[in-house]
This record gives sequence, structure tokens and C-alpha cells, in this order.
Amino acid sequence: MSSGELAQTAQEADSPPAGSVRLDHVTHQYGRGGGAFTAVGPVDLTVPAGEFLVLVGASGCGKSTLLRLIAGFERPTHGSVRVSGAEPRPGTAAGVVFQTPRLFPWRTVRGNIDLALRYAGVDRAQRLERRAELLARVGLEGTEKRRVWEISGGQQQRVAIARALAADNPLLLLDEPFAALDALTRERLQEDVRRVTERSGRTAVFVTHSAEEAVFLGSRIVVLTRSPGTVALDLPITLPRGDVDAEELRGSREFAELRAQVSHAVKVAAAV
Ligand SMILES: Nc1ncnc2c1ncn2[C@@H]1O[C@H](COP(=O)(O)OP(=O)(O)O)[C@@H](O)[C@H]1O
Ligand SMILES: [Mg+2]
Repeated sequence: MSSGELAQTAQEADSPPAGSVRLDHVTHQYGRGGGAFTAVGPVDLTVPAGEFLVLVGASGCGKSTLLRLIAGFERPTHGSVRVSGAEPRPGTAAGVVFQTPRLFPWRTVRGNIDLALRYAGVDRAQRLERRAELLARVGLEGTEKRRVWEISGGQQQRVAIARALAADNPLLLLDEPFAALDALTRERLQEDVRRVTERSGRTAVFVTHSAEEAVFLGSRIVVLTRSPGTVALDLPITLPRGDVDAEELRGSREFAELRAQVSHAVKVAAAV
């Protein structure tokens, strides 16, 4: 074996697990020269596989920019971004859910999911089974034949989540996906996302400006300073996971204390 091959084998042996994310000294600027604006950084952040990381911060602090860097939609101006050990490629690095669902409104629910399954390379014979499984996972059984414009905003966001899960990608990125929904729908979808990611063992990076949402979802919360966003607080969340009673969890004292702590940190971080 040549030294090159040996190095390659060594690299593979300790290559990071699928779905892990690593940001090293990442800075991102929009524009160039005198008009350049630094939106993010410098940020150092490692997200181990299977973690549910929530990024919280005031509007404009660079949360969406960070998510787009991880998705590979943007390249960092300085530093490096790695997903599963490699430079992220847009469209394949992660399943992405945006604030507005971005579906094909004239297509049926089935049509939207099938398109994602086809794009993910699932062959025709398996598509029906996978589709049924995905729709069940996000609580959309029986809606296959409805057109997207006919269903509610909450149901549309469920279709977007099912679509993001279709590719079986180990990493899921969600950018304030429930911000436009009513409180009840939002809570139900939070419960679904918590359960779905846990059961599938996926890594999630979820952006929100709500301390409440962050504490409910996260196994870890990172609070960002105002723009250019840097890490102000990195907090592991030790609330129980797995099969929990959501209502009990939200009503617990630990939950209230964490929510107050995060809420305070966000305010302080936005002011510095
Ligand atoms: N495409 C862009 N061109 C120039 N500035 C941008 C662009 N996108 C975002 N910004 C700016 O970068 C900063 C961070 O934006 P963003 O990442 O969207 O923040 P957040 O998601 O936390 O609200 C903001 O000041 C915003 O105006
Ligand atoms: Mg944003």
C-alpha cells in the first residue's frame, strides 16, 4: 500500500459520521469591497450526528445565512463548512424546510411527494410504500388527492416536512418553519418534528426566534449575538426526550426555567 493510500484509509477510518456538521472560523459577507456587509461570524460550531440543535437570535442576526451555508446554498467568505466531513452540495447536503412551504400549489399532495421521491432516486415500485409511510409520519393520511392550494397552511407545512424527509438525508435544516402558523398548529407540528427526528436518528438544525420553541425542540441551543452573528451561549438541554407527554413537558418547572434563561440570553445577545 502506498503512503497516499494509507493516508486515505486513515482518513476514512476517522471520517465524521453521516449527518454531522462542522463550522470552522466561518465568516460570511454579502457584497464586496467597500459595500461588503458581514452577516455572520466568526463562528465555530460542531454538531454531532443525531443532535437537535436550535439556533436562536434576534431578527437579522444571521440565522438564515448560517443555515444556507450549511445547506451549501452559500459558500463562506472565510473558514470552512463540512457536512458529514465534506463540503456541502446544494440540494443533496440536507433536507431543507423553509418558512413558507414552497410547494407546487397546482399539484396534489401525492404529486409533490412523488416528485421528491423521484428526485431522491426512489424507484417506482417502492414509491407508493414510501409515500404512504411519509404521509403517515407527518399525519397527512387521506389527503393524497387534494391539491396543495386546497389544504391549510399547517397541512402545507406538513407536506414540506414530508418532502424534506423523502430523500432520507441524515441532516434536516429548518428555517422558522412554523412562524406563520397559529399557536395550536405550531405546537402540534413541533411535537411531530421532535418525534420524527428522534425516531429516525436524524441530525437537525432548526432556526427560530422563539425561546419557547427552542427549549421544546432542542437537545442543544445556540444563541447568536446580533449581526454579525457569533455564538453568545451554547446550552445543552437536558429535558427528557423519547416518548414524552408534550403538555407535561411544556408545563414543567425545568421547562419554564430554561425558557426564561434562553429568553434572557437572546435579549442580552441582541443588545451587545
Ligand atoms: N442576499 C443578501 N444580500 C445582502 N444582505 C443580506 C442578504 N441576505 C441577508 N442579508 C443581510 O444579512 C443579515 C443577516 O440576515 P439573515 O441571515 O437573513 O438573518 P436572520 O435569518 O437571523 O433574520 C441581515 O442584516 C440581512 O439584511
Ligand atoms: Mg431568517
